[in-house]
Amino acid sequence: VRDWNGVDQVVLRSPRGAYARVSLHGGQVLSWRNDRGEELLFTSSKFLDVQAIFKPPKAMRGGIPICFPQFGNSGTLEQHGFARNRIWALDEEHPPLNQNDNNSKASVDLILKPSEDDLKCWPHGFEFRLRVSLTKDGNLSLVSRIRNVNGKPFSFSFGYHTYLSVSDISEVRIEGLETLDYLDNLSQRERFTEQGDAITFESEVDRVYVSSPNVIAVLDHEKKRTFVIRKEGLPDVVVWNPWEKKSKNIVDFGDEEYKQMLCVDAAAAERQITLKPGEEWTGKLELSEVPSTNCSGH
Ligand code: BG6
Repeated sequence: VRDWNGVDQVVLRSPRGAYARVSLHGGQVLSWRNDRGEELLFTSSKFLDVQAIFKPPKAMRGGIPICFPQFGNSGTLEQHGFARNRIWALDEEHPPLNQNDNNSKASVDLILKPSEDDLKCWPHGFEFRLRVSLTKDGNLSLVSRIRNVNGKPFSFSFGYHTYLSVSDISEVRIEGLETLDYLDNLSQRERFTEQGDAITFESEVDRVYVSSPNVIAVLDHEKKRTFVIRKEGLPDVVVWNPWEKKSKNIVDFGDEEYKQMLCVDAAAAERQITLKPGEEWTGKLELSEVPSTNCSGH
């Protein structure tokens, strides 16, 4: 299928009917649905209305933009790096797996290499391979492999900027980040320590939880749904909701849409990752969705 701007998208389907759609624009997952056809990722309804005012290509607001080689704005590059705004290619060395292969996994392999313009603002030769898969249970898995194909070391930060779809942000809580330290982007990255309770939302939040556990849960009380987020190679979790006031300043975001989304990003944000020549780094994310009734205690 084609993107809004004519870029190809790849559709993945699990045997039981789960679905994912990945754009070659940014290697961005734009949709992930369970086997009941329910959309699990948020995408802004405003994006298409205002895309004409952006200099193309601009990443869709929603889904899972890939933030590389810089997460956030704490470097010299554009916010969240350039990878999300580039057109990726299908990785010919790893053609899409047959949807009925032995693992019953539907998968697509994409690759990004820097253009000459990219090398002007970030002079480091890299190959970024991204595999997006849908497991037979409908879990969404993203595996990023970044290789230094340069003669000298380079450092980067990274994030899977994951826009979860929620019924009502005031009814959502995150478990697994209690008692952790976080850097608060709303107060010059000052360091605080989270209290013992699960995290709930009643105002703007923009925090980098550092050195977090590899499994965290996002409970949507109203939808009776829990997202389980599993990560590997990514020490931090960034939690973002712009809330009412900031939403009004984001052109590709509806004024009320903050109620229906929560970004929970597996990331390497606090400390950069350094790759020596020839070295490769791997960062994994797996998202699953379970009805809360199956979770004891919730
Ligand atoms: C979050 C950052 O990850 O992304 C926020 O922590 C930022 O500071 C948000 O505002 C959205 O970024 P963007 O560039 O997609 O508007």
